Amino acid sequence: MKTIDGKLLAANLRAEIAAGVSRLKDETGKVPGLAVILVGENPASVSYVTAKEKACREAGMLSREIRLAAETTEAELVGLVKSLNDDPAIHGILVQLPLPKHISEKSVIDAISPEKDVDGFTPVNAGRMMIGERCFLPCTPHGIIKLIEFSGMDLCGSHAVVIGRSNIVGKPVAALLARRETNATVTLCHTGTRDLAHFTRDADVVIVATGRPGTLTGDMLKPGAVVIDVGVNRVPDASRSKGFRLVGDADFESCAAVAGAITPVPGGVGPMTITMLLWNTLEAARRAAV
Ligand code: GUN
Repeated sequence: MKTIDGKLLAANLRAEIAAGVSRLKDETGKVPGLAVILVGENPASVSYVTAKEKACREAGMLSREIRLAAETTEAELVGLVKSLNDDPAIHGILVQLPLPKHISEKSVIDAISPEKDVDGFTPVNAGRMMIGERCFLPCTPHGIIKLIEFSGMDLCGSHAVVIGRSNIVGKPVAALLARRETNATVTLCHTGTRDLAHFTRDADVVIVATGRPGTLTGDMLKPGAVVIDVGVNRVPDASRSKGFRLVGDADFESCAAVAGAITPVPGGVGPMTITMLLWNTLEAARRAAV
């Protein structure tokens, strides 16, 4: 069994991105700018956006950090997004999800210009991806494809099982896996799936994105299968200084005993999500430069 080192792949790609940022600056004087908006103080979200901002600065980009109170109104947030749409120093806009309950995520995402939608969340980008047009690919699904390729697995002709049908991960990753250039046969499982293990036992690669620890266990895998664990779950652990530890959606021990390769949590998918965000932001700045 091999651990798929997301940190290593992310570091390699971030070095390439930093070189691209530096080249863009030399050639056009443009510095890619990412606006990161966080509403409220959800601890997991605070930690994600802090990591995104740090990675952005380390790649030589401008990070505009916008923290808003949990009481911010939908109209205020939409107004802010629209002003960033018109700001020439900003090439990418990221609104961290989830948003407080009184704000419609749809209204806010719809307000982001598709040309600055570096998360790939707007209906325009999602639609462009589905029909194979130039777009910003959603970061976690794109990072997952890169991780599978990095593991050495050949996806062409393989059976990929995706568990979870979210708009952020499950649905888009299933679409990317099925693209002609990737050429996997895809099964998309979800809470309505009657016998999950029936499907996972036939899979060459399983992508698990349910937000539920223990969704996938070793007895559900074909020997040698590749496992991509998207889950980031906090479980109480008194032995840790923070009082919790992070676990994925797969039971690591039992899956690692059967799998050919598996991503760890943390250090697997997470660093790749951030890396593909930087990738999209650089690409957005390049497009704005021509
Ligand atoms: N919440 C969980 N994942 C993501 C992500 O990739 N982007 C944003 N904006 N919010 C998230």
